[in-house]
Parts: sequence; C-alpha cells; structure tokens
Amino acid sequence: MADQLIIFDTTLRDGEQSPGASMTKDEKLRIARQLERLKVDVIEAGFAASSNGDFEAVQAIAQAIKDSTICSLSRANDRDITRAAEALKGANRARIHTFIATSPLHMEKKLRMTPEQVLEQSRLSVRFARNLCEDVEFSPEDGYRSEPDFLCRVLEAVIAEGATTINVPDTVGYAVPELYGTFLKNLRERIPNSDKAIWSVHCHNDLGMAVANSLAGVKIGGARQVECTINGLGERAGNCSLEEVVMAVKTRKDYFGLDINIDTQHILAASRMVSQTTGFVVQPNKAVVGANAFAHASGIHQDGVLKARDTYEIMRAEDVGWSANKIVLGKLSGRNAFKQRLLELGAQLESEAEINLAFTRFKELADRKSEIFDEDILALVSVDVAHEQESYRLVSLRQHSETGERPHAEVIFTAEGREVRGEADGNGPVDASLKAIESQVNSGAEMVLYSVNAISGSTESQGEVTVRLQNSGRVVNGVGADPDIVVASAKAYLSALNKLRSKVERVAAQGGGNV
Ligand code: KIV
Ligand code: ZN
Repeated sequence: MADQLIIFDTTLRDGEQSPGASMTKDEKLRIARQLERLKVDVIEAGFAASSNGDFEAVQAIAQAIKDSTICSLSRANDRDITRAAEALKGANRARIHTFIATSPLHMEKKLRMTPEQVLEQSRLSVRFARNLCEDVEFSPEDGYRSEPDFLCRVLEAVIAEGATTINVPDTVGYAVPELYGTFLKNLRERIPNSDKAIWSVHCHNDLGMAVANSLAGVKIGGARQVECTINGLGERAGNCSLEEVVMAVKTRKDYFGLDINIDTQHILAASRMVSQTTGFVVQPNKAVVGANAFAHASGIHQDGVLKARDTYEIMRAEDVGWSANKIVLGKLSGRNAFKQRLLELGAQLESEAEINLAFTRFKELADRKSEIFDEDILALVSVDVAHEQESYRLVSLRQHSETGERPHAEVIFTAEGREVRGEADGNGPVDASLKAIESQVNSGAEMVLYSVNAISGSTESQGEVTVRLQNSGRVVNGVGADPDIVVASAKAYLSALNKLRSKVERVAAQGGGNV
C-alpha cells in the first residue's frame, strides 16, 4: 500500500509574507474555505502573535474549518506559543508550529544567542507547546545551512520533548535537489528517535528549485509532509508551489508511490482566488495553472492531441479544474444557473447576501459583455464581492481622450459612504483617472507596479488590473476587473487605497528580532 504524503499549505502565512500580498481576515477565510475544498491536510492560517489581525484571522479560520488541521506559527517563546494556542481554541484539529534559527549565521547575527542557548530554548518551547496542544511541529529556521551535528542534537531533543513533525526549511532557497534530499536522509539516519516524528520539507524558490528540492526531500530524504503555497506565493521568489508538487506526485505515482488527499479539481479555482486576492498575477506559462499550461499552438501538437490526447498531454486539464473556454452564462441566465456555475467552479459564496450581490454584479456585466466565461465569474466573485465592504468604492468614471490632446478624467467614488468627485488631466486616460482619485484622497502613495491582463484572452474580455502602492514602508496590491480597462484601473487603485488604510502592525516571521 502506498504511503500518504501530507500537504501542508502555508499560503496564508509564508505566502502572505510576500510584500503586498497581505490579506484581510475575510479574504483569508475565503481562501481557507477553498483550501478545505481542496482537501489540504494542514492549513497554516497565520502567525497569531505577529499582530491582532493575524490572531483574529487564525481564530476565525480555526472556528470555521472542520476538515483540515489548522496551524499557527509561533516563535520559540512562551508568549508566542500561548497566543497561538489561544487563537487555535475551538479548532477540530489544531497544530502549533514553533521555530527558531539554528544556522551559525542566524544564531550569531540575528538571535545573538549561543548554540547551547538555542538548543535549550528549542527544548523548552516544544515542552511548553506540548502542554497546550498534542500536535506540535518544530522548524529549525535556516535548517539547511545549519551545522549537521548541532542540528542532530536539537532535533533529537525536540522529538524527545514530543514534537510530532520535524520540518527542515531551506529558508533562503540555497539547496539543490540531490544535496537537500541527502541532507534529510542523513538527519533521519543519525537521529536515534527520528522515527517518532513525521519529517517535512519547506523549500524556498530563490534558485527556482523549490519544487525539485521538496520532491527530492520526499524521494531521497523520506519526508512525508510538503509545505507549499498556492501559485508558489511567498517572499522573494516564493515557496514550493502546491499545484506543481501535487500534480508531480499524482502524475508520477509510478515513481513516488505516494497517495495524496488533494481534490485536484479545485486547484484552478484556488489559484485564481489567490491571484485575484493578492494581485500576484500567474504567468501564462506557469505549470498546471498558467493560461497556456494546456494550450497547444503548434499544428503538429494540435493534430496529435486530436488523434490521441496523451501524445502531448501528461495530465488532463479538467482534472485540475480547467473547462473548455466555453460561454457559460449570458444576460438571460437566472440566479440558479449562476449559483450552480459558482458551485461547479468551486467558488461558493458564504451567504445568500453575497450570492445576491455577486448576481447583481453578474447582471451588470452581462449587460455590457455578451459572453460570460468561467474566468469572468471567478473574477467577479473574487474581486468585486470581496471588496464590497471597504471604504472607497467607484461610482462612475468619465474620461475623454483624443489624438493630440491631453486626456481628461472625472471620477466619482464614495469615501466612507460620502460621494467625492475628482478631476484631472494625465498622460493617458488611466493616468488621468488615477490622478483624479488622488486629487481627493491625497494618499501620497508611490505606484510601484501597474499591470493589465485580459481575463479570457481576447479584446472582448474583461481587463484585470493590478496596482501596487507603497507608502511609509508598506506595500499593498489592489486588483480590479472590468471590460473597460480604465474603469478596472480605477477599481484597482481604490482597492489598493483601501488596503493602505487598514493599518497592519506585525512582526515578521523571518529575520524578525529575538525569540
Ligand atoms: O522559511 C522558513 O524558514 C520558515 C520557517 C518559519 C518555517 O518559513
Ligand atoms: Zn518559509
């Protein structure tokens, strides 16, 4: 019988640490529900001690999610661990994940602790955590660059204290597959009580090898848990991508010989939801979830696939949630058909009020766009409904542009329920519209990214705009979708301003201060 590979998703914790990817509690809850639909085994919902916002998000997820284990990160100290345990109260299955750096560089320069102090702190924190929770994961941060003899002592000690999972992070993405796999294998062979814990891999993608390293950790090192994020979201070059690692193990079961619980048909909806919530666009050639992942442009390939699809396809597009790019709904479609399609896309809305709101928006869109695709529906529920409660909201936009003239825009939007009107000229219609908004808001934010993407690939498509703003050291992403890209840009800008307004003070998980 095949072994089980545990999928530990950290989109809401390590993924969210990516600058600009921070999410509201409601957004996190929506993604957590999608992860539960995906049948993710463990959801790392946040880092409860890092901010009140994260505490509340972990708490809300712990109470709402029934099927997956809910985990909170915590540094290796009693205060963080207590906070994690408090946030996890009420969870069906809870896990505390505690970590401390063990590499010479991190211990000396970041923690300013001796190896002996780190060893003692690790031991005490796992003991403390085990008194509050049965399921305790321990991570030696920067584990892959740690000195193996010392790491063996630390890991043996924490297993003796009752750590149930040992996670070996390649925090800075320095590993290469064979070496990482062997590193893990050696640890497991050298540590006398290694069989008392499940071993886990956690790889960052700085050299583009996070998935390969994780798979080597599984195959060579014997790990039975992979830590990953949807779309590989995460700081710098990101984390190991859930969809790639899952499809690799499923597609090559002949090689890995492992079972996975994931219901892969919900992968695409999860990818879209995370991308649209964070504003991190998925590149077209991204494996599994990129727009081109199953597109065959060359005549020879098309001919082959039509004759026998496995000539050029190793996975079935529908197995990861792709449907043919068909017209699913139009102007005359009713609420039930809309709701049914949402269910099929795995994008259930939580309340009747949310469905009604999404349906009103769908009707507005159908009045302006004759063919509504799955992509439009996913954009509609991920972007518009999620942002409904926020302070700034677009009411209307008028702009004039003509060859040889400087474009002019007039934008009306609500600010805390009050209507505001701004006017401005700009280099182009988008520039004029955003300047018109800024003339009233005076945020002073600097725009560090502006990108437009056609949701379903033609000029009839909705444009999806991402705007990244930076202000006083904070970076946020806003996303807006509309058939008119000037309107989509204004929506994205307002959505980013909404995020800037919500003040988030938090402690960083990596590189963040003392234990
Ligand atoms: O990359 C890392 O080391 C981490 C730990 C906190 C597990 O994310
Ligand atoms: Zn990490």
